[in-house]
Amino acid sequence: MITIAIAKGRMQDDALALLARAGVRVAEDARNSRRLALTDDSGKYRFIFVKPADVPVYVEHGIADCGVVGRDVLLESQADLLLPLDLGIARCRIVVAAADAEIMTRSLGMLRVATKYSQIAGAHFGARGIPVEIIQLSGSVELAPALGLADLIVDLVETGRTLRENGLTVVDEIAESTGKLVVNRASYQLKPESITELVRALESALSASVNGGHGV
Ligand code: PRP
Repeated sequence: MITIAIAKGRMQDDALALLARAGVRVAEDARNSRRLALTDDSGKYRFIFVKPADVPVYVEHGIADCGVVGRDVLLESQADLLLPLDLGIARCRIVVAAADAEIMTRSLGMLRVATKYSQIAGAHFGARGIPVEIIQLSGSVELAPALGLADLIVDLVETGRTLRENGLTVVDEIAESTGKLVVNRASYQLKPESITELVRALESALSASVNGGHGV
């Protein structure tokens, strides 16, 4: 059996829909339950649903053979994983945003950056030689500038609605993010046929979508 760790939240529905198109289906009642571990209809796959940041942890430790998780999480975790496939789901951008669009040029002192992505933010400003103080938050990062906790944020933008409704604008773009299939290195050696079968099935589902099927 292959265990697949799925990032809960924004990724989950798209990941399960894509897997279903690849022939890996989970019964409706199980999908709607609160169970955090499920088996697919064929009995070949077990799914575990975990917080996005924990997907690379489960896969790197070999508890899960594979995972479905955003590039944002992978950049932040720097886990040593195989990345055989971009799934094209949950597309978004990792950006720097602020209430004052000119803050980078106006400010003389050290800027404070609130984020869930301290590694990504540190690397971004470090590479540009901009000294910043990183303030680590776990969510609702868009509140930080309005409340005076930070001058800038580094966060995900999908529709842009959260930024807009909290009076923030994008001042720089760091990276694009989409859902990726990740694979544990040892699993790939130990179960090559099963993993290849899954990768091929997902590739077919993706190309069927591109060639006029459902969008992903
Ligand atoms: C993400 C992200 C933004 C929002 C962006 O938050 O951190 O807050 O989605 O989406 P939008 O551009 O479509 O408005 P998420 O819902 O993952 O929760 P979080 O507050 O825990 O970060």
